[in-house]
Amino acid sequence: MGDLENRVVIITGGARGIGLGIAEAVADQGACVVLADILGEEAKESAKKLGNIHLGIKHDVRKADSAKNLVDQTLESSAASTSSSTTPAWARTPRPSRT
Ligand SMILES: NC(=O)c1ccc[n+]([C@@H]2O[C@H](COP(=O)([O-])OP(=O)(O)OC[C@H]3O[C@@H](n4cnc5c(N)ncnc54)[C@H](O)[C@@H]3O)[C@@H](O)[C@H]2O)c1
Repeated sequence: MGDLENRVVIITGGARGIGLGIAEAVADQGACVVLADILGEEAKESAKKLGNIHLGIKHDVRKADSAKNLVDQTLESSAASTSSSTTPAWARTPRPSRT
């Protein structure tokens, strides 16, 4: 674990390439990452490979309503995790970090 333990980090364009590389580094530092990418399915698959506390969400950086949906879904997932018996780290961080 590292300096980002108990933090939630949203990474746009995180399904592959440089974004995914950043996601791996951030997850290694203990953060729960949200891979936000226009390729929704690939974002979910990449998140699953990183570990089961991470999320992939379909998101288009060009659209304001997509940004709102991204934050809403991140917060909803955090709230759902809080009520589970195996609480992942990000359940202890109710608001995501903005990058
Ligand atoms: N790879 C390199 O060596 C390199 C070097 C210099 C600059 N760059 C630049 O850095 C950027 C990223 O490079 P990469 O190699 O990671 O590219 P990539 O194509 O592997 O990854 C980009 C990611 O962004 C996502 N994306 C595209 N449009 C989106 C949108 N509207 N909303 C949300 N997600 C979107 C893609 O689906 C993809 O997952 C590019 O602009 C590239 O030109 C790359």
